[in-house]
Amino acid sequence: MKKFLLTAVCLSMLGGLFMFGFTAQNLEAGDGKAILETRCTVCHGAGRIERAGHDLDGWKSTVNRMMNKGQFGPKLSDAELQALLDHLVTL
Ligand code: HEC
Repeated sequence: MKKFLLTAVCLSMLGGLFMFGFTAQNLEAGDGKAILETRCTVCHGAGRIERAGHDLDGWKSTVNRMMNKGQFGPKLSDAELQALLDHLVTL
Protein backbone atom coordinates (compact mmCIF):
# COMPACT_ATOMS: atom_id res chain seq x y z
CA MET A 1 0.00 0.00 0.00
CA LYS A 2 2.80 2.39 0.92
CA LYS A 3 4.55 1.62 -2.33
CA PHE A 4 1.38 2.25 -4.28
CA LEU A 5 0.92 5.64 -2.63
CA LEU A 6 4.51 6.59 -3.35
CA THR A 7 4.11 5.67 -7.00
CA ALA A 8 0.88 7.64 -7.22
CA VAL A 9 2.49 10.71 -5.69
CA CYS A 10 5.46 10.46 -8.03
CA LEU A 11 3.26 10.10 -11.08
CA SER A 12 1.09 13.08 -10.21
CA MET A 13 4.19 15.21 -9.60
CA LEU A 14 5.55 14.24 -12.99
CA GLY A 15 2.22 15.10 -14.56
CA GLY A 16 2.25 18.47 -12.83
CA LEU A 17 5.73 19.24 -14.08
CA PHE A 18 4.75 18.31 -17.59
CA MET A 19 1.65 20.53 -17.53
CA PHE A 20 3.64 23.39 -16.06
CA GLY A 21 6.33 23.17 -18.72
CA PHE A 22 3.73 23.04 -21.44
CA THR A 23 1.72 26.10 -20.36
CA ALA A 24 4.80 28.14 -19.44
CA GLN A 25 6.20 27.60 -22.90
CA ASN A 26 2.96 28.63 -24.55
CA LEU A 27 2.61 31.77 -22.50
CA GLU A 28 6.16 33.08 -22.53
CA ALA A 29 7.86 32.34 -25.76
CA GLY A 30 5.31 30.95 -28.17
CA ASP A 31 3.42 33.99 -29.37
CA GLY A 32 5.44 35.92 -31.92
CA LYS A 33 2.35 37.81 -33.07
CA ALA A 34 1.75 39.16 -29.56
CA ILE A 35 5.41 40.13 -29.25
CA LEU A 36 5.19 41.99 -32.54
CA GLU A 37 2.01 43.80 -31.51
CA THR A 38 3.30 44.85 -28.09
CA ARG A 39 7.03 45.43 -28.66
CA CYS A 40 7.42 46.41 -32.31
CA THR A 41 4.66 48.97 -32.70
CA VAL A 42 6.05 51.49 -30.20
CA CYS A 43 7.76 53.62 -32.89
CA HIS A 44 5.92 52.72 -36.09
CA GLY A 45 2.80 50.81 -37.07
CA ALA A 46 2.53 47.10 -37.74
CA GLY A 47 1.84 47.96 -41.40
CA ARG A 48 5.47 48.87 -41.96
CA ILE A 49 6.46 45.44 -40.69
CA GLU A 50 3.78 43.56 -42.62
CA ARG A 51 4.77 45.25 -45.89
CA ALA A 52 8.52 44.68 -45.52
CA GLY A 53 8.54 41.11 -46.87
CA HIS A 54 12.01 40.13 -45.66
CA ASP A 55 13.35 36.58 -45.61
CA LEU A 56 14.82 35.10 -42.42
CA ASP A 57 18.23 36.75 -42.84
CA GLY A 58 16.60 40.08 -43.64
CA TRP A 59 14.44 39.84 -40.53
CA LYS A 60 17.39 38.90 -38.36
CA SER A 61 19.32 42.01 -39.36
CA THR A 62 16.21 44.26 -39.25
CA VAL A 63 15.23 43.09 -35.75
CA ASN A 64 18.84 43.50 -34.66
CA ARG A 65 18.80 47.09 -35.94
CA MET A 66 15.51 47.74 -34.09
CA MET A 67 16.92 46.31 -30.87
CA ASN A 68 19.79 48.79 -31.07
CA LYS A 69 17.63 51.89 -31.38
CA GLY A 70 18.45 53.34 -28.01
CA GLN A 71 16.24 53.24 -24.96
CA PHE A 72 13.03 52.48 -26.87
CA GLY A 73 14.52 49.59 -28.82
CA PRO A 74 12.79 46.31 -27.88
CA LYS A 75 14.70 44.11 -25.44
CA LEU A 76 13.94 40.53 -26.38
CA SER A 77 15.12 37.33 -24.74
CA ASP A 78 16.50 34.61 -27.01
CA ALA A 79 13.19 32.75 -26.79
CA GLU A 80 11.17 35.87 -27.62
CA LEU A 81 13.45 36.69 -30.52
CA GLN A 82 13.05 33.16 -31.88
CA ALA A 83 9.25 33.29 -31.56
CA LEU A 84 9.16 36.70 -33.22
CA LEU A 85 11.34 35.54 -36.13
CA ASP A 86 9.15 32.44 -36.54
CA HIS A 87 6.16 34.75 -36.90
CA LEU A 88 7.84 37.36 -39.13
CA VAL A 89 8.81 34.82 -41.80
CA THR A 90 5.13 33.89 -42.17
CA LEU A 91 4.06 37.46 -43.02
C1 HEC B 1 12.84 52.45 -30.94
C2 HEC B 1 11.83 52.60 -31.96
C3 HEC B 1 11.54 51.33 -32.80
C4 HEC B 1 11.10 50.12 -32.35
C5 HEC B 1 10.74 49.70 -30.93
C6 HEC B 1 10.99 49.27 -33.53
N1 HEC B 1 11.36 49.97 -34.64
FE1 HEC B 1 11.30 49.30 -36.56
N2 HEC B 1 11.94 51.12 -37.24
C7 HEC B 1 12.28 52.21 -36.44
C8 HEC B 1 12.81 53.28 -37.27
C9 HEC B 1 13.28 54.64 -36.75
C10 HEC B 1 12.76 52.83 -38.60
C11 HEC B 1 13.25 53.54 -39.88
C12 HEC B 1 14.76 53.53 -39.99
C13 HEC B 1 15.34 52.15 -40.18
O1 HEC B 1 14.89 51.41 -41.07
O2 HEC B 1 16.25 51.77 -39.41
C14 HEC B 1 12.20 51.47 -38.55
C15 HEC B 1 11.96 50.69 -39.67
C16 HEC B 1 11.47 49.41 -39.63
C17 HEC B 1 11.21 48.60 -40.81
C18 HEC B 1 11.35 49.03 -42.27
C19 HEC B 1 12.79 48.96 -42.72
C20 HEC B 1 13.18 47.56 -43.09
O3 HEC B 1 14.32 47.17 -42.78
O4 HEC B 1 12.38 46.81 -43.68
C21 HEC B 1 10.80 47.37 -40.36
C22 HEC B 1 10.39 46.16 -41.19
C23 HEC B 1 10.80 47.42 -38.91
N3 HEC B 1 11.18 48.66 -38.49
C24 HEC B 1 10.47 46.34 -38.08
C25 HEC B 1 10.47 46.37 -36.69
C26 HEC B 1 10.27 45.21 -35.84
C27 HEC B 1 10.03 43.81 -36.34
C28 HEC B 1 10.31 45.66 -34.55
C29 HEC B 1 10.19 44.81 -33.25
C30 HEC B 1 11.30 43.89 -33.05
C31 HEC B 1 10.55 47.10 -34.60
N4 HEC B 1 10.67 47.48 -35.92
C32 HEC B 1 10.64 47.93 -33.50
C33 HEC B 1 12.13 52.28 -35.08
C34 HEC B 1 11.71 51.24 -34.25
